[in-house]
Amino acid sequence: MVITGSISERADALELAKSDELDVFLYTKSALANMEDGKLGTSGTGSERAMEPGKFFLIGDDPRLPQMPTKPTLLDFFKFRARSTNHLLQSATHALKAGMSEKVIMACLLHDIANAIFIKSDHGYWGAQLIEPYVDEEVSWAIRAHQALRFFPDESVGYPYPELYIKYFGAHYEPDEYLKAEYECARNHKWYMTSRMITVHDIYSFDPNAVVKWEDFVDIVGRNFRQPKEGLGYDNSPVAHMWRTIRRPTKYL
Ligand SMILES: [Fe+2]
Ligand SMILES: [Fe+2]
Repeated sequence: MVITGSISERADALELAKSDELDVFLYTKSALANMEDGKLGTSGTGSERAMEPGKFFLIGDDPRLPQMPTKPTLLDFFKFRARSTNHLLQSATHALKAGMSEKVIMACLLHDIANAIFIKSDHGYWGAQLIEPYVDEEVSWAIRAHQALRFFPDESVGYPYPELYIKYFGAHYEPDEYLKAEYECARNHKWYMTSRMITVHDIYSFDPNAVVKWEDFVDIVGRNFRQPKEGLGYDNSPVAHMWRTIRRPTKYL
């Protein structure tokens, strides 16, 4: 189908085509997504593809992903963009039961948000940046620092080097120099213990029988996360584009 005519005629035609939108759109992959598969460069972007009759590069919501509200909240992102949030909920529940402060509970609840909905590499840094405009500075600082602290034991609070990391990375793994430097800085910081508590309450093995639910944290999130009224991604904050990209990861431009 070739769509021509006025803007409104084209809009109508596009509406019709939406019924079969999975066939209408041309999907591309970003350089980062391809690098995760060991390949370089973007793919599926050639101009010859756009010559396919009735086909358009995707420039909006990806119909293969769950649709999101127009003004999405933090919980919407977890609901529609995460495969599971059990790890976060279990960690936050552990902190809650231990009587931790709301800042620590929030930090535990969001500490691996990057793993859950964005990027795994350097997840502590990405996660902290993503939420920085919306939480207390101490919370985002703690999430950023947990990236490094997780690799360094603190016996004073019963945090050994995780056994699991020996299995995951081998007994001879040594954290990168920038992580060692970050650890040295963080251990003398006034908020060290907030970040350290993330590692203490980090649950390394998921308990399938544990009952964890978002309802237990709605009030804490309400008090500790400044949800923008325009929706995350549309409040013109320095990180709004990051939320928009999570919402529409395959948008052509
Ligand atoms: Fe983490
Ligand atoms: Fe974690």
